[in-house]
Amino acid sequence: MNKLKISQPYILPNKNIKLQNRTVLAAMTNKQSYDNGIISDDEIKWLFERAKGGFGIITTAATNVSKEGKAWNGEFGVYDNSHIPNLIKLTSTIHKTQSLIIAQLFHGGLKSPQKITGSIPISPSKLKCNESFTGKSKEASEKDIKKVIDDFTASAIRCYKSGFDGIELHGAHGYLISQFLGKITNKRKDHWGGDLGGRAKLLIKIYKSIRKNVPEKFIIGVRISPEIENIGIYLNDSIKLVDILRKLSVDFIHLSCWDVFYKIKSNKNNQRTLTQIIKESYENLPTIISTGNIWSSLDANNLLKQGADLVGVGRVAIRYPNWANNISDLNYNPNRPPYTVNELKKAKLNNTFISYMKNWNNFVKYDYQK
Ligand SMILES: Cc1cc2nc3c(=O)[nH]c(=O)nc-3n(C[C@H](O)[C@H](O)[C@H](O)COP(=O)(O)O)c2cc1C
Repeated sequence: MNKLKISQPYILPNKNIKLQNRTVLAAMTNKQSYDNGIISDDEIKWLFERAKGGFGIITTAATNVSKEGKAWNGEFGVYDNSHIPNLIKLTSTIHKTQSLIIAQLFHGGLKSPQKITGSIPISPSKLKCNESFTGKSKEASEKDIKKVIDDFTASAIRCYKSGFDGIELHGAHGYLISQFLGKITNKRKDHWGGDLGGRAKLLIKIYKSIRKNVPEKFIIGVRISPEIENIGIYLNDSIKLVDILRKLSVDFIHLSCWDVFYKIKSNKNNQRTLTQIIKESYENLPTIISTGNIWSSLDANNLLKQGADLVGVGRVAIRYPNWANNISDLNYNPNRPPYTVNELKKAKLNNTFISYMKNWNNFVKYDYQK
């Protein structure tokens, strides 16, 4: 019997790298690592369980490229060579399976608390900032911006040396790269601001610098949020950004949709989802990953019909590490949250991660409090 499309192999164009199927574990912060940035055995175990569960790509949690870019306690880092031995442990563990392992590189910018980093948070423009002791962020200077580009590049090289198959640049969810992309957070009058070309320049420079410094085989993708209105990221600009990324030949674009079924209402007669709009905008797009609110096999197949090449999932894989292996069954329809603490322990979450998941609406069953 033919396998469902979601379970069929996928070749990354231009790379000739084969994924065992079309499933992606999306980046998920889990706070299980050490304050010095070294990735812990608990975090490695959590990722390994999902790799054994059959995902085509395993993406790590967002990992900071510099001390100043850290956003949470328990976040693992890739900003120092002391991180390399445990990163090698992670990649060699994942490579016991057929999954690829991709690190999600980021800098928190405005969202990097001074009480964690010891530094005033930087952002494209000086802005109101709850994470800064003074209540304001610092406008990034030329020197700061150069350091950010160098830090992303050095971190990507470190990931390459540690055995990762590639990296995902975190340009989504309002962290530093998307603060530069946003019209409201980026009010600069110089070449790092202004029109989309200026606001995307940080992302472009980071990408080009990394591409120059790692072998061609190393995968470089970009995650974006097509719409974050409160920081000034709008769909029309995001469509143009996709064109910029396409022309740069990034290996994949990962759309963070939160709900891939949500229909954009800009044209009443032709309501389409974000994935459809992006896919229909250009020929010859890089691989498109799309993520948000996928639970069942029917959901996953619907997203492939929208035009996504690969299907990303977050929350369902927290409770169901074997999601990717089960998805070939058209009737697979796992239970929705809330989940009990025991269920989450069985799924190899440590206590810190379980406590963190209590912050996610209705994810952990209330009796955990007792
Ligand atoms: C606990 C948790 C942590 C997350 N951390 C990250 C992260 O580090 N980087 C990121 O880009 N997205 C992060 N996300 C968003 C997910 O990657 C995903 O886009 C989102 O959960 C929607 O997919 P889902 O409906 O399948 O959960 C996180 C989501 C969850 C639930």
